[in-house]
Amino acid sequence: MARFPKPLEGSWTEHYPELGTGPVSYADSISPEFYELERDAIFRRTWLHVGRVEQLPRAGSYFTKDIAVANTSVIVVRGHDGEVRAFHNVCRHRGNKLVWTDNPRAETSGTARQFSCKYHGWRYGLDGACTFVQQEGEFFDLDKADYGLVPVRCDVWAGFVFVHLDREPEQSLQEYLGPMVTAIEDYPFDRLTERYAFRADVPANWKVFMDALQEQYHAPIVHRNQRPENFEAHQAGFEALHYQVDGPHRMFNTPGIRPWELPDDQIKPSEKLLRSGLFGPWDQPEFHEATVIDGMRPGGHERVGVALFEIWPNFGIQLWERGWYHTYQHWPTSHETHGFEWNLYFAPPRNARDVVAQEMTAVSLKEFALQDDSLVASVQSTLGSGGLTEFPLGDQEILCRHLHATAQEWVAASLRERSTS
Ligand code: FES
Ligand SMILES: [Fe+2]
Repeated sequence: MARFPKPLEGSWTEHYPELGTGPVSYADSISPEFYELERDAIFRRTWLHVGRVEQLPRAGSYFTKDIAVANTSVIVVRGHDGEVRAFHNVCRHRGNKLVWTDNPRAETSGTARQFSCKYHGWRYGLDGACTFVQQEGEFFDLDKADYGLVPVRCDVWAGFVFVHLDREPEQSLQEYLGPMVTAIEDYPFDRLTERYAFRADVPANWKVFMDALQEQYHAPIVHRNQRPENFEAHQAGFEALHYQVDGPHRMFNTPGIRPWELPDDQIKPSEKLLRSGLFGPWDQPEFHEATVIDGMRPGGHERVGVALFEIWPNFGIQLWERGWYHTYQHWPTSHETHGFEWNLYFAPPRNARDVVAQEMTAVSLKEFALQDDSLVASVQSTLGSGGLTEFPLGDQEILCRHLHATAQEWVAASLRERSTS
């Protein structure tokens, strides 16, 4: 099987000596105690992606995001001044969840001129100011100015909206993302606005699922039924060209598979007909030139089919060479469960063929993801059995090694802080 040249001598893992090469502990993925520590040590101390600016097209556009791991829900809203702001989704009167539609446990979105509480009718402006208190005269020295919504730090990078639950984050969003991730900010995310969204409740620790997405060499095995007919020759499409780590973030490139270059008899008839399939629509958008940016190939490889950037802790952006992208996000709900969100973004379709091609990609990739979903459920169900919590990781599992090391480091750092304070 062909191996692609590594950018430097030696293995990828050995370029990051701090990661070591020994077996890795997965106790961090089965322990309720570790999960409790992660909530504070990780999810309340990091910039968390919550949505895209296209979800907030005009003044008053809003969406809510439930962040169970941090015991909160946030409202993200565009104000009359065009600014995107975030607030804890809680009424200042008696703590009712302020914004929800049919089910208080479900996220919602829409357009509003103000937010009114469903309990006693207190009202808040788009800037969070409290504008109305029911029977205000019956309260005691209450000044509405003191009862605005509690703000959450919010910033936008490349159209991605992030929040930080610590009111005084140590780093701005730009600093936090660092040079490797911000190198893709010129990608035309703002022109890839046709979105397909999926969400699944997965019976696995969030890190166990991330592991299955941050190496692709399992693909010929797990996803064998979706392979092109002459798979052996193309197996190398899943072998990484480049792995890189920058602070808590990580990325890889693979050459990908180009079904449009395969001989006719080796392509599924449905894919040939629709000019689309597992690896995206075959026809690129008109602005394809703009989607070829150096930042997606930090290893300098000529042919890069896939570039996945994983932004610590739980967000992945995967760019594809034909000018589309998708994102992954993992929201922990317990030590052994999480919500998995997946969004695919294409150029606005030019015609019916484009629509069908995009739908074909969405459906094929959903099938692909469901295979990973059942696989990680199987891993979770046996992790820890027979006392097995340490596992050997190969060179192409460097990002899994880095993810677990980062989670363990952040938890250890917060424990040290607690013991000294
Ligand atoms: S709890 Fe919101 S108005 Fe009373
Ligand atoms: Fe997979």
